[in-house]
Parts: sequence; structure tokens; C-alpha cells
Amino acid sequence: MRSEFLHFSPPLIGDEEVEEVVQTLRGGWITTGERAQRFENDFRAYVGAPAALAVNSATSALHIALAALGIGEGDAVVSTDMTFVSSIHVIEHQRARPVLVDVEPDTLNIDPDQVEAAVKRIKGVKAILPVHLYGHPAEMGRIYDIARRHGLAVVEDAAHSLPARYRGRMIGAPADGMDVPNLVAFSFYATKNLTTGEGGMLTGPPELLDEARVWSLHGMSRDAFKRYTSEGSWRYDVVLPGFKYNMPDVQAAIGIHQLEHLDEMQKRRRAIVAQYDEAIGQLEELETPVARPEVESAWHIYLLRLRPERLRIGRDQFIEELRRRNIGASVHFIPIHQHTYYREHHQLRPEQFPVAQREFERMLSLPLSPAHSDQDVADVIEAVTDVVEKNRS
Ligand SMILES: Cc1ncc(COP(=O)(O)O)c(C=O)c1O
Repeated sequence: MRSEFLHFSPPLIGDEEVEEVVQTLRGGWITTGERAQRFENDFRAYVGAPAALAVNSATSALHIALAALGIGEGDAVVSTDMTFVSSIHVIEHQRARPVLVDVEPDTLNIDPDQVEAAVKRIKGVKAILPVHLYGHPAEMGRIYDIARRHGLAVVEDAAHSLPARYRGRMIGAPADGMDVPNLVAFSFYATKNLTTGEGGMLTGPPELLDEARVWSLHGMSRDAFKRYTSEGSWRYDVVLPGFKYNMPDVQAAIGIHQLEHLDEMQKRRRAIVAQYDEAIGQLEELETPVARPEVESAWHIYLLRLRPERLRIGRDQFIEELRRRNIGASVHFIPIHQHTYYREHHQLRPEQFPVAQREFERMLSLPLSPAHSDQDVADVIEAVTDVVEKNRS
């Protein structure tokens, strides 16, 4: 058994990231400036987006996406029950109504049939907010088709899905042939495939991103950093009651080099996934994650599902047994309908989300990071196998 606790998702930070941060700190400009601009340009080119805006989290990116689309009181947004709360909080922040639907049993992504039914049933739907859960793109062909037919915007939560492809198209790039406004929010939180500690990026059509940029910085009509440069002026005008969501250069300095290393880090991630699939796939008590043929998953999270009829222990105890073997597992996510706020304010009940509820009860996420060594991966496999062998029913 391992002697040290294995963290679930440690970051992989190279010397280049460290050096760039040091240079930034010594360079005399540490908030949003040239490095943030460079990170935006590099990111835009990497995913093939028409425009990109660096912000301080994916939550901020989602929030200003809704603000830029003019979504507010009296509007409704259709989203998924199986996500992190901030995907849904942002709808509340705009005083719009979240309409949550259940998920598909294999990917746990939003179910397009239920999206369509909700759009037809509920008055005032303005947007669909799918989440590419665990890095596996949602069924975007169907979702864009629904959006186009009903005149809706699409705001994609891509917190997990850098880099991922749906039918060959990179998540973050424009949806082919679909004249639907699509805004895509990425996260650079500490555990994400690319990290800046905290951070995020919004991609989308340039005119919507111009609007989002104003929302992201106090509603000022021009970039604040230019105020202090030779190009700028002290005079500024505020055109909206905006937020404070800009990404500082200290963080962009990390992001620039994380992006350079991303393909290499993804290669390592995929190799770990292949090892898990091979070893764990032999255990009949467990289900390994799916990847549909039309997608390339970003493999942000390795989802394991227990077959409860074959085990004497449930999910909670499985995680506890892994912890006793010094392996840090987690759960993604507690469905939205279970949280007090959403239960009480939107009268949500488990019966409305049978798939999310059932899958939540048997799911856990294994450690997955390019920073993990071969020994770490072998330790996880050994621990999982041992827990299964000792608890077969
Ligand atoms: C699906 C999903 N959406 C949004 C977020 C929010 O990301 P951030 O922490 O960058 O705001 C997360 C964070 O973990 C997430 O998992």
C-alpha cells in the first residue's frame, strides 16, 4: 500500500510557467495587460475561435455570456441537473429562471429530447446551457438544431473540455453552418486540464465578446489597462453596471505556457485513461467511462460506476476504502436537485431526474492528472482491485 496520500488532481507546472510569473512580477505590470492579451490570442488560435476573452473563472465567463446575450428577469435557460452548481448559479445571478432536465445514461450529458420538450413546454426560454461533462462533449448536433429551430442562444459550459472535439470540431470553435450565437466558457481552476490557479476564458462571436468584455471590467467602455499606458487616457466612461472579472497578467503568464504544454499533458492523460480502462475493465463489479465515436474527449475526469448488485459496499464506503489505501477519489457531482437552495426555490424532486439520481448514487472519480507517475497509476489500480476483491457480493 502507498505510504503517501495520492491527491486527486495535482497541477503539472513547468519551469517556463514559473519563469514567466517571475518576469511578470519583476516587469512592473501585474494586472490585466499584454500577457493576458497574448494568452487570449494564443487560446483563440488553439481552439479556432473567432474571439477570446480571458477572465478570472469559468463562472465569470458563464455569467458575462448570459449578460452579453441580454438574458435577465422573465427569461428562462434550459440546463442540466448533473453539473457543478456554478453552471446554474449564473442563471440565478441574472435573475432568470433555470429549467433543469435529466441526463443521458451513458455520458451523463444533458438529454436533447428533454431539452426540446422543455423548450416547447416552458414560456420565455432564451438559451440552452449544456455542459460537456467530464470532458466528453454533449450532443451538440441536436442541441444546435433545437436552438436554431426555436431561435435560442447556446452558452456552452466547457469547464472540463479543453481540448475536446465534437464531430471533428474543436469545442470553442464556431458551430458549422449554425447561425446560432454560441458562447463557450472554459475553466483554468487548479484541478483543470490547463490551470492558472483560478481563471477562465470565454470564446464566441467578436461582437458578443466585445459586449462581454465591457461586462467583465466594471462596465467601462475601454480596457482599464490602457488608461495607464502611453496610448491611454485617464478619462473613462461607464456604460453598464459591470463586474470585476478580468484575468491578471500574473495568471496569464502561467496560462501561456500551460497552453504550450497542453498537447503533451493530454497525451499523458490519455495514456493513464488507457491503463485504467484496461485494468479496471476486467472487473465485472465496475463500469469504465464511455467515449462515443463522434467525439474526442478531453478526459478531464475518469468516471467509475459501481454495479451495486455485485458489491457488498456502496459508493461512499468504496471512496472511504480507497482513502484508507491513501488514494484520493471524489464525486462529480451532487446533482443540482439535491442542494437545499434549488430544492426549495424551484421545488425540485429526485423523481424528476431519475437518471442523474441513480447514477449519482453509484459514481466516483479516480485520480487523474498528467502529474501522476506510473507508480501512482499502478497504486490506484491496485487499490481499486483490492477494494473490489474484498467486497464482492
Ligand atoms: C462543470 C463546471 N462548470 C463550471 C465550473 C466553474 O469553474 P470555475 O471554478 O473556473 O469558476 C466548474 C468548476 O469546477 C465545473 O466543474
